[in-house]
Amino acid sequence: MSNQHLGVKPQTSIFSKGYDPQRSEGAATPPVFRTSTFLFKTAEEGKRAFEIAYGLSPMKEGESPALIYTRVNNPNSEILEGKVIGWDGAEDAALFGSGMGAISSTCLAFLRPGDTLVFSDPVYGGTEYFFRHLLPQFNIKTKHFPAGATKAEMEAMVKDDPTVKAIFIESPANPTMMLSDICAAREIADQYSTPEKKILVMVDNTFMGPIFSSPLKLGADLVLYSATKFFGGHSDLVAGIAMGSKALMAQVKVNRTILGSIADPDTAWLIHRSLATLQIRMEKQQENALKLVTYLASHPKVYEMSYPGLPSMGERQLELWKKQATGTGSIITFKIKGGEAESFRMLDAIEHMKLAVSLGGVESLIQHPSSMTHSDMSPAEKIHAGITENMVRISVGLEDPDDLIADLAQALEKA
Ligand SMILES: Cc1ncc(COP(=O)(O)O)c(C=O)c1O
Repeated sequence: MSNQHLGVKPQTSIFSKGYDPQRSEGAATPPVFRTSTFLFKTAEEGKRAFEIAYGLSPMKEGESPALIYTRVNNPNSEILEGKVIGWDGAEDAALFGSGMGAISSTCLAFLRPGDTLVFSDPVYGGTEYFFRHLLPQFNIKTKHFPAGATKAEMEAMVKDDPTVKAIFIESPANPTMMLSDICAAREIADQYSTPEKKILVMVDNTFMGPIFSSPLKLGADLVLYSATKFFGGHSDLVAGIAMGSKALMAQVKVNRTILGSIADPDTAWLIHRSLATLQIRMEKQQENALKLVTYLASHPKVYEMSYPGLPSMGERQLELWKKQATGTGSIITFKIKGGEAESFRMLDAIEHMKLAVSLGGVESLIQHPSSMTHSDMSPAEKIHAGITENMVRISVGLEDPDDLIADLAQALEKA
C-alpha cells in the first residue's frame, strides 16, 4: 500500500508510508524482524542482490536493493529510512548504530588521504575528537571557523586551499547554540568546486531537526543526526541517521555495510515507534523551554543565555535564525555568575532534572559541558569555542514547566 501519491505532510505519511502490512501477515504496525540473514529464492537473485549492494552494477528501473544480511539492511531499518526522509525532503536515508556512526561513516565515504575538512567550531565533543585526532591519522586534515562566522571568514578557509573536500556545520552548535550559515557554505562550496572535486556541505541537524530546521532545503548535500536524541526521544536507545540524495547515500550505505555501523532491528523498531510523537514532543518541549528561558533571562545569577531566536544572541544570529529555523527548540545554555564551584553547587542541588549528558528525551537533563561533553578539549580550545567553566546546558523535557522553574529557582539559590 502506498499513500505517496497523496502528497501529505510527514506527520500523516509516517503512519503508512514505507510499510506494506500485506508483507507482514497484515500486522497493523511493523513487527521486529530479528534475523541476521535473508533467504534468496534463486542463486541468480542472490548474485543480483550483491551486485546492487556493493555498487558493482547500477540499479535498473523498478529495481530496489534486496534484503541480504542485517549488517547491510533489514526491513526495520528500511521502513524507518523510508519514513524519516519526509521531514527533510531527502531522497534517501541511512540508519546507524549511533550519531557518531553516522558522522564517521559518512565522512569516511567521501574524504580521502590528502583531503581537508573544514568545520564550524565548536561541535559535539565526539565529533571534535574524530576531526582533531582520528581523521589526521589517515592524512585527512581538518581546520575550523568559529560557529556563526561571516561568509568571508568561512570563505577564507576554502579559497586558497584546493584540498578542501567538505564543509561540516553543526547548527546550532553544541553547547554554545550558535547557528552557522548553511546558505553561505553552499555558495562557497559551489564557487570552489571543480569538475574533478565537488565540495560537499554536511550539516549536523541534531538540535533542531527534523521539525524546526531542514538543511537540505537550504542547500546542504547531507544532513546528519544523533537519533539518540529527538528521533528516539526517550533516552532508551543510541542511533544515528544520515540523509541526502540517492547517489550520495548509495556511497554512504556501502561504507555502512563494510564498517558495520548499521543499528540493529530492535533499535530501528523503537525509533519507528517514536516517530508518531516526534513533532508533538518537540513542540511541547519547545513550549516548556520558552517558559524556562523567560524565567532564567531575569534571574540575577544567570547571564549570557544562549538560545536560538533570543535578541541577546546578536543581530547576525537573529538573522540566521529567521532564515534557517522555524522554531527555537528545547536546548538552553547559560552561564552562572561564578565558576565551576558555583555551577557544581547548582547542579548538585537540582532535583527534578537529571544530571546527565545527552538531550532531546522526554525527561529534562542538565549537564556541565566543560567537564562533561566537551572535557576532551584543551583549555585553549575551550576558550576559543566559548565553552566556560560556569556554563550549564539544559535539555528541556515534558515535565510540568512550573515544577522545572521551581527546581531551577531552589538550585540557583544554592549556587
Ligand atoms: C550534535 C550532536 N551530534 C552528534 C552526537 C553524537 O551522537 P551519538 O551519541 O548518538 O553517537 C551528539 C551527542 O550528544 C550531539 O550532541
